[in-house]
Amino acid sequence: MNKRVYFIDGSFKRKPLASIEDRGFFFADSVYEVIRARNGIPFFLEEHITRLQHGLNELQIKMPISEENLREIIYKSLKKLKAKEAAIYIQITRGKEPRSHLPRKGTKPSIIVITSKFRPLPLELLSRGVDLILYPDIRWGRCDIKTTMLLPNVLGKIESKKKGYFDALFYKNNFVTESTSSSFFGIIGQTLLTHPKDHNILPAITREKVISIAVKLNIKVEEKPISIESLNDLEGAFLAGTTYDILPVKKIENIILPLNPISTLIQKEYYRLLDEISGGSGKHISL
Ligand SMILES: Cc1ncc(COP(=O)(O)O)c(C=O)c1O
Repeated sequence: MNKRVYFIDGSFKRKPLASIEDRGFFFADSVYEVIRARNGIPFFLEEHITRLQHGLNELQIKMPISEENLREIIYKSLKKLKAKEAAIYIQITRGKEPRSHLPRKGTKPSIIVITSKFRPLPLELLSRGVDLILYPDIRWGRCDIKTTMLLPNVLGKIESKKKGYFDALFYKNNFVTESTSSSFFGIIGQTLLTHPKDHNILPAITREKVISIAVKLNIKVEEKPISIESLNDLEGAFLAGTTYDILPVKKIENIILPLNPISTLIQKEYYRLLDEISGGSGKHISL
């Protein structure tokens, strides 16, 4: 099995060598996607490509290859890697050129695709849940664009580790938004609460899947911001994202949350969906 498969600007490479004179490197002038795959089948590929295209359009960067070609590269990378569980990282930057804020006309956008083996979170964490700190959301005003400008997310994660917690939950103007790399859902009674889709959060793909599952299960979903004070009223919570799947939250700062059966139900349905798409069971908590 290959450890990592690198596709850089038009061809597969043995080593991840790229130019340092790249606007992605200088300015985080770039967007990215992380896609999971099992048995060579990527999950929710079309949704990821649509979001990538949305980010590129918003930043006025031209997709350097056709969507068809991108799909081909992804499937070829998975074939080369030969891993049961894989993660595909795609990054598109405005291109390589000497550093200057104003982009030159005619610079060709650059694309890298890195495919590697993926290790899902330990089953113990997925069944028991994780602890979160609250961290000020110091990100820019367009969190709906999945840019590589992730310094606040990195700092939040570092701070949470320093305090012995698993991750950080961002808050802005007294309302929680999302975690450093996943969406946040609270539970009160038979209702799921999550931040509305606007410029303050990523239009997350797992979030959409959770909402569809909830609708199917007749669980009410309210897309409205949750205030810091009302975290005390939650009867459960979970994070949702490509790399975490559905991850229960058992503590936010000093607030202890019970493992809510709704979290477990959504988790099971989500795993069922992944199993169905990939035609094979993952190493997850028993369904
Ligand atoms: C800030 C943020 N929110 C939410 C998510 C979850 O998005 P998705 O479910 O599309 O992986 C991510 C994933 O990277 C993220 O970085």
